[in-house]
Amino acid sequence: MNTTQPPLSALALCGSLRESSYNRKALRLAMKHAQHLGILTTEADLRKLNIPLYDADLEAAELPSGVQKLKQMVRQSDLLLIASPEYNHSIPGVLKNAIDWASSKDNAFDGKVAMIFGASNGPFGTARMQPQLRQVLGVLNVLVTPQPIVMISSAQTAFTPEGAFVDGKLQHRLELLVEKTIAIATAMRGLRTT
Ligand SMILES: Cc1cc2nc3c(=O)[nH]c(=O)nc-3n(C[C@H](O)[C@H](O)[C@H](O)COP(=O)(O)O)c2cc1C
Repeated sequence: MNTTQPPLSALALCGSLRESSYNRKALRLAMKHAQHLGILTTEADLRKLNIPLYDADLEAAELPSGVQKLKQMVRQSDLLLIASPEYNHSIPGVLKNAIDWASSKDNAFDGKVAMIFGASNGPFGTARMQPQLRQVLGVLNVLVTPQPIVMISSAQTAFTPEGAFVDGKLQHRLELLVEKTIAIATAMRGLRTT
């Protein structure tokens, strides 16, 4: 019997649309490590997907194409890598809006595994946003890796011009989070009956 499994696939999501976003820099580092471990990675570019504000009337008429695409990308993934800033101590509207669309009617996130982390300019490195994102994903039946918690504070000085972390310990922590998340997703796949 051939027991070889196809590689797991990861969908990367960034809560900032900004071209030179610190969170996207960190997300790329996480993606790179996941790729190094044999994971297929894709990034859902929320700016390119051009997702409108959630509107139940729009949804009832015809699901916007960007939302259809996002839902399909989420469904096709085994795990999610989510990097986000905090806005006013909470989840940026862009990310929450995308999650709301992709979870409405038939929840595309159901049963997924996710890792969350974040970068912010302040001293708390998204410490107030992360528990809120964890709660939202929990409601959607997403298993969020509990530890390590990766908070990138003073993001404006956290990266080299080449996009690496200045602090090697941060890189190690992020890699550990990726590895734990892959381990959970691998175990979850083993439990799946369909
Ligand atoms: C509307 C708004 C609210 C913000 N609120 C916070 C905050 O609560 N805490 C914080 O550390 N930074 C806050 N910031 C600053 C962000 O940390 C900073 O813009 C960061 O670079 C955003 O991440 P990005 O580089 O990935 O776009 C806020 C920024 C905006 C635009």
